[in-house]
Amino acid sequence: MKDRVRRILGRLSPKADALLIANSVDPHLDGSFFYTFEVPGGLFEGSVAIGLPDGRLHVLSSPLEEESARQAAKRDPSVEVHVMTSGNKERLVQEILKREVPSKPTLAVNFHEVTHEAFLALGKMLPEAQWVDATAAIRQERGVKDANEVARIEEAARIGSAVAREIPSMLRAGIEEIELAAEIEYAMMKRGASGRSFSTIVGFGPNSAEPHYAPQKVRLVAGQSLVCDFGAYFSRYACDITRSFHFGPRDEEMKRVHETVFEAQRAALDLLRPGVAGEVVHAAAQKVVDASPWKGRFTHGLGHALGLSVHDAGVGLAPGVKDLLEPGMVVTVEPGIYLPGHGGVRIEDDVVITKDGYRFLTTAPREYLEVGA
Ligand code: GLY
Ligand code: MN
Ligand code: MN
Repeated sequence: MKDRVRRILGRLSPKADALLIANSVDPHLDGSFFYTFEVPGGLFEGSVAIGLPDGRLHVLSSPLEEESARQAAKRDPSVEVHVMTSGNKERLVQEILKREVPSKPTLAVNFHEVTHEAFLALGKMLPEAQWVDATAAIRQERGVKDANEVARIEEAARIGSAVAREIPSMLRAGIEEIELAAEIEYAMMKRGASGRSFSTIVGFGPNSAEPHYAPQKVRLVAGQSLVCDFGAYFSRYACDITRSFHFGPRDEEMKRVHETVFEAQRAALDLLRPGVAGEVVHAAAQKVVDASPWKGRFTHGLGHALGLSVHDAGVGLAPGVKDLLEPGMVVTVEPGIYLPGHGGVRIEDDVVITKDGYRFLTTAPREYLEVGA
């Protein structure tokens, strides 16, 4: 992706002679590798991408995904693929850089995603280089999605929303959290997802009060609330959706909690438009919760950027975020109220910021829903 490489390097100050993106072992793969190299398949563990100021990209692929890499390079003439054979990675990197950049080069690295080990290896390969951090430049570029990226997130969100609509029909007394999580992931893949975009969260009753809970062999009991937070990957892009349900008979407090979370999300959505700071949107949701009997029980940021990864590089909606929203940014809006020992409610949607507001990418109903026990 010639323009992306050129724009990232163009944003750097001081300037760098090249951008080096180094993958480690799954899951320590840099989303920026796939941002600059548009390749549908392949894992690309241990791969390196070397981007140049004119936008050209050298990709070092292992033989394990050589075919995918070569097919992708055929579609993008700015990419040259080099296949690594055992032990020649260091030599290949040195040769490419010797050809393309001055001796004693300044090289940019995505400090946010490179592992310490991979960075030390680069330093050993290129002892003369000066290193600069490309994190901010990458964040600014990746933070604003183009139409093709939005379409891919929207397809992931369409899958996530369709599965969210199916969840009430999956619920029965005695189903285990881990079983429901498996059903959700299976339903996403049946609908065309390439996988889940993060570890699915399903929490029943008191477990729904822990925002980043991991599902266990715990059974659903009548009268409990439940939180399901999950996402699909489609064409390397993620969605992230949370829906909360209430397994009858009714718990009046949890119904009012749900209505308050819904109202908090509404208040935040009403502010979404270009030029508004992330912290201002968070504060609108916080204000609704803090005016309710559950003051202080909204315990996390309102949202994060979404894209090649679920917590993507970009502007979030959280206290202290002064960055302003721009058209093309994709963010989650996910207020929650958590009552330890009792239950929690979170409602999470994905939106794209438009010229004069926002557009929902996730669409499943988010209102209070009681499912018969
Ligand atoms: N799925 C984790 C989150 O919503 O941030
Ligand atoms: Mn989520
Ligand atoms: Mn999220």
